[in-house]
Amino acid sequence: MTSSEIRATYLNFFQSKGHLIVPSAPLIAKNDPTLMFNNSGMAQFKDYFLGNAKPPSKRIADTQRCLRVSGKHNDLEDVGFDTYHNTMFEMLGNWSFGDYFKQEALSWGWELLTEVYKIPKDRIYVSVFGGDDKEKMTVDQEAFDIWKKILGSDERIIMGSKKDNFWEMGDVGPCGPCSEIHVDVRDEADIKKVPGKDLVNRDHPQVVEVWNIVFMQFERKADGSLVNLPEKHVDTGMGFERLCMVLQGKKSSYDTDVFQGTIGKLEEMSGKKYTKTTDPSTTAQNYTDVAMRVIADHIRAVSFAIADGQLPSNAKAGYVIRRILRRAIRYGYSYLDFRQPFMYKLVPLLALQFEHVFPELKAQADFVGRVVEEEEKSFLNTLTGGLSRLEKIFSESGTAAVISGKQAFELSDTYGFPLDLTALIAKENKFSVDEKGFEQELALQKERSRKDAVKESSDWVELGPVDGVEFLGYDHTEAPAQLVKYRIVNTKKGKEYQLVLDRTPFYAEMGGQAGDSGEISFGGDVVRINDTRKEAGLVIHISNDNKLEQVLVGLTEPVSVVATIDHVRRAAIENNHTATHLMLGALRTVLGNHVVQRGSYLNDELLRFDFSHFAKVTDEEIARIEDIVNEKIRQNIALVAYQNMPYKDALELGATATFGEKYGEFVRVIVFDPAFSIELCGGTHVSATGKIGLFKILSEGSVSAGVRRIEAVTAKQALAYVDDQIGLVKRVKELVKGQDLVKSVEVLLSEKAELLKKVETMEHHQVMELRNALLKKVSREDGLSSLAEVVTVPSSNALKQLTMELRKESDYVVLGAVIDNKPMIAVAVSDGVIKSHGLKAGDVVKEAAKEIGGTGGGQPSYAMGGGTRPEGLKAAVESARNFIEAKVAG
Ligand code: ALA
Repeated sequence: MTSSEIRATYLNFFQSKGHLIVPSAPLIAKNDPTLMFNNSGMAQFKDYFLGNAKPPSKRIADTQRCLRVSGKHNDLEDVGFDTYHNTMFEMLGNWSFGDYFKQEALSWGWELLTEVYKIPKDRIYVSVFGGDDKEKMTVDQEAFDIWKKILGSDERIIMGSKKDNFWEMGDVGPCGPCSEIHVDVRDEADIKKVPGKDLVNRDHPQVVEVWNIVFMQFERKADGSLVNLPEKHVDTGMGFERLCMVLQGKKSSYDTDVFQGTIGKLEEMSGKKYTKTTDPSTTAQNYTDVAMRVIADHIRAVSFAIADGQLPSNAKAGYVIRRILRRAIRYGYSYLDFRQPFMYKLVPLLALQFEHVFPELKAQADFVGRVVEEEEKSFLNTLTGGLSRLEKIFSESGTAAVISGKQAFELSDTYGFPLDLTALIAKENKFSVDEKGFEQELALQKERSRKDAVKESSDWVELGPVDGVEFLGYDHTEAPAQLVKYRIVNTKKGKEYQLVLDRTPFYAEMGGQAGDSGEISFGGDVVRINDTRKEAGLVIHISNDNKLEQVLVGLTEPVSVVATIDHVRRAAIENNHTATHLMLGALRTVLGNHVVQRGSYLNDELLRFDFSHFAKVTDEEIARIEDIVNEKIRQNIALVAYQNMPYKDALELGATATFGEKYGEFVRVIVFDPAFSIELCGGTHVSATGKIGLFKILSEGSVSAGVRRIEAVTAKQALAYVDDQIGLVKRVKELVKGQDLVKSVEVLLSEKAELLKKVETMEHHQVMELRNALLKKVSREDGLSSLAEVVTVPSSNALKQLTMELRKESDYVVLGAVIDNKPMIAVAVSDGVIKSHGLKAGDVVKEAAKEIGGTGGGQPSYAMGGGTRPEGLKAAVESARNFIEAKVAG
């Protein structure tokens, strides 16, 4: 079976068992502060498990792209060295939300593996949760009994510890005991030597876990306790790449058709061979294989992350992606001898491979390739910088052949050198690295950033059941509601109170639109709400009002409140949101249909919009974009909003999906003129475009390779901007005292140019006169002519001219002068003396500038320095002369 057939078989099997098949969510986790990337199939369904939202079906199945490179589940360091870990992998999963439980989950798993995929039964082992005293939990007898019945005996059942058989999404969140299915793919001869049962969960590359079936029953709270979930669920995850390894009879997932295309291309590009070695010891061939596995793995993770909207950057998720990319580049550089960008060439291949299952990569292959290439170029640049820094460390270290922790840390922090790269190059130069010292530096930095981000949250206090939150804000600015839960979070700035209502007019920050502010009234007490955010399906009203301490204390059941948003601020936000839609329409009209949204943020003051486009947007294009948007504003087009349109219908209508967003079966569609702007959007908008009044673009620039950013303003802010510009023109008119501003400035400029010319001529005159006087002071000794004087000249340019003129007549020239109250020193050396005595003007200046409290430098023939102490000038000239004479004599 090809990998595509294996995947399709899985989905068909569960469809036949009544499951709804849904698309994979993007790799990047949104609205979940406990997670950076989706690390398992269940992550996108977290709200369903917790009971915060309702699933579209009680049975769902899919293949989810997952990334395990941060947080609780992190496999990065294993990737490449072993043959079965991946950073990005596909997780085949089936879920029951309060529907079937252990019996069906386990017997369907067995049926699929043994009857459909036909894996020999004697190659399979299963494990069940063996209990845990600390958690006060006993053996999962029910799962054991079901397995015993299915297998006909308990010989192939393993009792597992909490580490292997109790699955948790993260430090907090849904969790439960699980049952794993392991497959032994070793040769018969090896199996005879050691039974597979002894190798389960022992990191053996050919006795691997393929499927994990979790019985979700608990939620782990921030205080470590476990509470029962409202219902019992099933969450399963099968490692797709490992399943392919088993079904294709391979010893490593990298030998399956999932990776062989990329590895083949790498062989072709590097001229080296992949030999399937599995032992990562230090032979060159082993490292070639490790490098190919690393690159084949990492390019998938990076490409999908970018396609899902996460550009490499210097912070958070973006930095994780950058590090993965750099790790791969460094392997390519060190072991496959690539000196030019190479990873981007692998992107088109991946795009084709995943065309039918994850079409988002093909749709953006060009863009992804460009971003990767740009990153490669810049790292290859710092790679060279880092290498020369290392050279310097080697040459300056004296007898101690050690790179200090500080130096290794600097290499990693400034040049992006991972420690292992530093260590490798060190070894080649017979140096060692103080890794302990490096770890200390790292810990210090972590501590610094941890301190910056302290946020301790307590658990939610539940006052009543929450069954989703009704959003009223499309039609209302005020509404009565019930406070159903709250939480108090300690932040650096003080206490933050987070309130959840059963219904609310407050818009939570989403899709780039800023959250609402306003008030919540508890009868007599009115508290200010500063912001509104979304988390795990809940709308969270954020307040810093310490009055809440009193209001909340002792509450045990829901309380009636009235929630009111700042409607003036909301109106300004809506102006900017609608203007963003109109601007996207205008961008497509003016620049072309390749323009897609890459990022958006808007509040009551401005809108900021990132989009893909490969050139600077010219002034003329900007003017046309503004014209179109303002025309649409004047047309006063009424809003048409479809609250619940089937996703397919919306696409047919002409709406474009934004990459990296997750859409449900039904979507909200916002239309302003069906021929111009149709967007999938959950935000709030003006009822008619005329309200926006005016639209002005403030700036346009580049954010990263292929991504441009526009910032713009509307309504009051746009008027203020125009007024500002007019005011500026007025002030300048007054200054130049002319009505025709352009003409007056032109006159000023040409006058200035003329004056400059005159000054130059005069200075030249002065310089020549001085030169003639100074020539008389040139002394000649031992066949060498020299001059060292303090002089008076009007500018540094004149000082340079004078020195160069005198250089024609003297082997060396040292001149000091005070220019604009600052001491300067100029030194020139003739070519003859440079050659015969190795004298360099730059070295002389460096030495002499010490006397004037400054520095300087330049070429061997001419150099200049400046300082802060004019009184030291004479000494500086003397010092230069002494330095030269010593050098010449020596
Ligand atoms: N969520 C479970 C896992 O990731 C299935 O292993």
